[in-house]
Amino acid sequence: MNQHGYIWMRRAFSLDISNSRAQMVEAQREVVSIRGHLVAYEAEGDGAFFQDIRPQQNMAREQVSSGSEVPLEIHTEQAFSDRRPDYLCLGCIRGDPAAITYLLHVDAIVQHMSAEELTLLQQPLWRVGVDLSFRLQGVRDEVRGPVPILSLDFTDGWQLCFDQDLMRGITEEAEALRHKIVQLYYAERQGICLEAGDILLIENRVMVHGRSAFRPRYDETDRWLVRCFGMMNSRFTESVVKVQDS
Ligand SMILES: [Fe+2]
Repeated sequence: MNQHGYIWMRRAFSLDISNSRAQMVEAQREVVSIRGHLVAYEAEGDGAFFQDIRPQQNMAREQVSSGSEVPLEIHTEQAFSDRRPDYLCLGCIRGDPAAITYLLHVDAIVQHMSAEELTLLQQPLWRVGVDLSFRLQGVRDEVRGPVPILSLDFTDGWQLCFDQDLMRGITEEAEALRHKIVQLYYAERQGICLEAGDILLIENRVMVHGRSAFRPRYDETDRWLVRCFGMMNSRFTESVVKVQDS
């Protein structure tokens, strides 16, 4: 992974129209396996390793990947879970020029915080709700935490866990810090417009991401991504042991 927390493989290959999804799945499988294991979650996307992300009319204004007509607010994947993935991989089969994926690195947040704010951000001061995509598949709608937003890893540096939509500070100061992170995102974010054949690998523990609004036609010309998740080998092993023990 580069210092920016993502790898954008532009036109990684030219897609064969008749076989584009299968090609993309194989390419993403290889990309993720360089760094770890593919992971899937029983309660999201029917437990599939590779999920098709296409706009759905009944989800157009929701904070889910199949939404479109409102911006997808910034988040790290599955902020509510301690088994969240280390990597998010997006493969683009068909792009939309209006759909911009936005990224912001944790370091861009840290450098705008005072020492006092950094201390607070490492305290468990935020409660977090469960993603709608998990609730739709039966996970109980509950508020978890409180959790910190930032943590400082001895070898990997600053890491973050954040969700603009689902996180709330338990104090006024904590809420103000949540708003400050959102403002920093709008000021400092980087935009990427995925095109057919692109693969974007995002390091979920150091990057927040979001997406612009766009206007689908709800037909076969709409934006189409294939998404999968990965977990670093060491964390994957730890998770398997935890599941076996629970
Ligand atoms: Fe996401």
